[in-house]
Amino acid sequence: MAEHAITLTVNGEQRRGRAEARKTLADFLREDLALTGTHLGCEHGVCGACTVLVDGAAVRSCLMFAVQAEGADVVTIEGIGPADGTLGPVQEAFRQAHGLQCGFCTPGFVVSVHAFLQQNPNPTLDEIREGLSGNLCRCTGYQGIIKAVQIAAESMSVKS
Ligand code: FES
Ligand code: FES
Repeated sequence: MAEHAITLTVNGEQRRGRAEARKTLADFLREDLALTGTHLGCEHGVCGACTVLVDGAAVRSCLMFAVQAEGADVVTIEGIGPADGTLGPVQEAFRQAHGLQCGFCTPGFVVSVHAFLQQNPNPTLDEIREGLSGNLCRCTGYQGIIKAVQIAAESMSVKS
């Protein structure tokens, strides 16, 4: 099957590649760019494990074709924290609140929470629950994850 040339920005760097039209953005990131922090759980839009930012919005990369990301600005879990390798506020909050168990869902949660707090920096508990409803944790670590969002919201509001 024919491949298409793709140029996009990933984690601040211009990247080029080639992909068949049917290749998902998730597979392109993992297989072609070796960014395996983006996880694949359900591969049909249910679990949120594959969430990345595309032009600032949280997107399920298993539901988007790589060719649709032509020219886009993509941020994966590898690019969500500071460039010096330290933890960003959402990652640090997950660490503090024990917001992960096996960690499989964590990249998707961290990226989703990042986008959620950009939209709603001071969420109520109900808004946090609603905001997290698109991501599934098979370890059912939801209490720690909710706490992590509260800690992240607090630390981000102190900094701004
Ligand atoms: S792998 Fe994309 S939503 Fe589950
Ligand atoms: S921590 Fe294991 S799936 Fe969420």
